Amino acid sequence: MKFYLDSAIVDEIRYAIDMWNIDGVTSNPRHVRNSGKPFLVAIRDIAELFKGTDKPISVEVNPHYTTADEMVAEAVKLAAMSPNFVIKIPATEAGFKACWTLTEKKIRVNLTLVFSASQALQAARMGAAFVSPFVGWKEANGEEISHLVSEIVRIYRNYDYKTEIIVAAVRNARHIVEAAVAGAHIVTAALDTYKDAFDHPYTAKGLKLFADNWDATPYK
Ligand code: E4P
Repeated sequence: MKFYLDSAIVDEIRYAIDMWNIDGVTSNPRHVRNSGKPFLVAIRDIAELFKGTDKPISVEVNPHYTTADEMVAEAVKLAAMSPNFVIKIPATEAGFKACWTLTEKKIRVNLTLVFSASQALQAARMGAAFVSPFVGWKEANGEEISHLVSEIVRIYRNYDYKTEIIVAAVRNARHIVEAAVAGAHIVTAALDTYKDAFDHPYTAKGLKLFADNWDATPYK
């Protein structure tokens, strides 16, 4: 399974590369705003970190765009900036149409803001390279999420779609494990979510216990 970092902050991404060999990055307008940089500067800086690798970086088109033509025009410009860029397009009617057009132009799309298996199915039909179901937002809205990812996995297997599933808005270790059990290809999460998921209080407790015993035992 692949782990992407959901961030546009260079220091966070560098940490995730150095410590975890992160497999890619997903960004959105909120992450870019949090980076404190203008949009183009922020995405160029991220691209620099992955230069010479085949790791994908998702960058989102202007969310004000309502037509496929506007989305396609911006996507073409963004895709020309870096071979790592995958263009995030919203799962709207215009977005699906833009996805199809971009796929025909060999530009990879990450269909974002996906909340149902039927949206994920349409994303695959339109040739999306990636689809991003937002499990954390759905759960926060009181909706059940346990079946969503497994249904998408099953649908894609039934029809041999190559679209990769990025389980997004992942909030905790349980979400990561459930995505892996369901057979999703990728999860994307914030730095602190991974830090928490890779930690367990018993690991530190056990290490302390062993260290105390080590200190009480002669070496030779
Ligand atoms: C995924 O690609 C999105 O950027 C992300 O998961 C959105 O949710 P969040 O920023 O609330 O985690």
